[in-house]
Amino acid sequence: MNAAVLHTINQPPRFEQFPEPVAEENEVIVHVLAAALKPIDKQMASGSHYAAYSKLPVVCGMDGVGSLDDGTRVFFGGPRPPYGSMAERTVVSRSRCFPIPDNVNDDIAAAVVNPGLSAWGALVWRAQLAPGETVLILGATGVTGKLAIQTAKLLGAGRVIAVGRNEQVLNTLHDLGADTTIHLGKPDQDLTEAFVREAGDSGFDVIIDYLWGPTTEALLAAVVRRDLKPASSRVRLVEVGESAGPTISLAAAVLRSSRLEIFGAGSGNAAASPEIWIEAVRQLMSNVACGALRIDTERVPLDEVENAWQREQQGRRAVIIP
Ligand SMILES: NC(=O)c1ccc[n+]([C@@H]2O[C@H](COP(=O)([O-])OP(=O)(O)OC[C@H]3O[C@@H](n4cnc5c(N)ncnc54)[C@H](OP(=O)(O)O)[C@@H]3O)[C@@H](O)[C@H]2O)c1
Repeated sequence: MNAAVLHTINQPPRFEQFPEPVAEENEVIVHVLAAALKPIDKQMASGSHYAAYSKLPVVCGMDGVGSLDDGTRVFFGGPRPPYGSMAERTVVSRSRCFPIPDNVNDDIAAAVVNPGLSAWGALVWRAQLAPGETVLILGATGVTGKLAIQTAKLLGAGRVIAVGRNEQVLNTLHDLGADTTIHLGKPDQDLTEAFVREAGDSGFDVIIDYLWGPTTEALLAAVVRRDLKPASSRVRLVEVGESAGPTISLAAAVLRSSRLEIFGAGSGNAAASPEIWIEAVRQLMSNVACGALRIDTERVPLDEVENAWQREQQGRRAVIIP
């Protein structure tokens, strides 16, 4: 079958032939219709992810949309290596297949689940966002950041501040619900001052962070309080991605002068029960179907995967079509 096959860590996969998968107990063969090309797919292939591939060759792709032998259309996650979603067929555990409604097309369904559930999980499960709270999103111009803006508004956030690098995309974020935007193209000191101005007296309640690195350091410099009074409210920072850097330097003063709490949102702390996932996927699809959540996608034929792998996405998700 045709597949996107990775032979060398830190190289793009190649379009070539790969052996057909065979289902074992409790597994199903999925005939793939669409597979989104996400940062995690690239990180797994570049070796920069904590769960990066240890055995090669593998077919790339962590999830997708496909049909089962009985014709059911499903979203599936976690194909059994060396099989992946960027291929004509793959093999997954039956419990990792979720039926999807007819009114959401293959590309959107394939693209929205990873960033949509991540945005939802970070805001609801980790930050426990309450209606009326102020949310700041670092990396709001990315696909996941754009969904986080919309999700925060759906959940009743009071004010959403979108922070990003790409000015063209940043200028479109008001349409998705951002109340204010901050452009990253300024020196760290100026950026910290912009954060201080936006924080005002009440501060940020929730920070969803897709960047980490120097941008987060500039933000945390703004969270440090310059008096000896108790801070009136908590600041919950949820670390989701590391697009700007894998580490930060954390000043001790920020933890003592504020009520900063730092969480992570990822596979290690995701909701455990399958019922919670099924309900979250159902809710996500329903919000997409009624237009309450929007995501930009671009269809890419499987034989162009190598080229797509190396392109910047500009807030739009490439979806590989076998
Ligand atoms: N933990 C999880 O479960 C989970 C789930 C989804 C995503 N993530 C992570 O979250 C991050 C964003 O995901 P995504 O889907 O939004 O990816 P994406 O669509 O590729 O967007 C990447 C974002 O990072 C920004 N960026 C990249 N390099 C930067 C730099 N040096 N300085 C400042 N901004 C920079 C981009 O800004 P421009 O618009 O200017 O290019 C864009 O906003 C990734 O690290 C991804 O792995 C984690």
